[in-house]
Amino acid sequence: MERNSTNGLIKELRGRSIFLIGMMGSGKSSTGPVLAEILKYKYVDLDELIEKLTKKTIDKIFIEEGEKYFRDLETQCLQEIIKFPSTVVSTGGGVVLKKENWGFLRQGIVVWLDINQQVVIERLDQTKSDSRPLLKGKNVKLMYQEILEIRKDIYAQADLRVEINNEGVKSIAEKIIRALKEKIKN
Ligand code: S3P
Repeated sequence: MERNSTNGLIKELRGRSIFLIGMMGSGKSSTGPVLAEILKYKYVDLDELIEKLTKKTIDKIFIEEGEKYFRDLETQCLQEIIKFPSTVVSTGGGVVLKKENWGFLRQGIVVWLDINQQVVIERLDQTKSDSRPLLKGKNVKLMYQEILEIRKDIYAQADLRVEINNEGVKSIAEKIIRALKEKIKN
């Protein structure tokens, strides 16, 4: 990545934060820190922040308090995060569900990591983690497709859509940078 042109982009961004949205497993949390480093931005992972504040895993929050409680926490945290400029934020896949959240997301640039379904289903099947209660004990493929069907039109409201297959985080971050440059040019 050419340094001068990245410096130009950073200037053009004028401190606007970048929100990474997309389905579970699309690479938001792994790409976010790399993107932040390139842009010399701060980095926040929304799920991690919630886990730190509550001292509970996402899974435990869903079990003990329920999804609505988690969604409300998500909104409260987002409301705080937007106070900080120049931040890359990796959101949880369901952050797009509440209309209210879009009011916050729109204060920055919203980037949809639109990952190839086959790639992500294989990935999710292999890495069952405590942060994905919606898939726990379910047929991952069916559940994933069901959730995507509900959300895909909402994700499509992002400012930028970046198609992802099986590339590594650095390539994804560079794709995002290219998309941002393209957007800013127009
Ligand atoms: C969720 C996605 C998860 C986490 C929670 C709910 C969702 O985050 O916020 O399990 O509704 O899609 P990731 O997208 O980082 O897996």
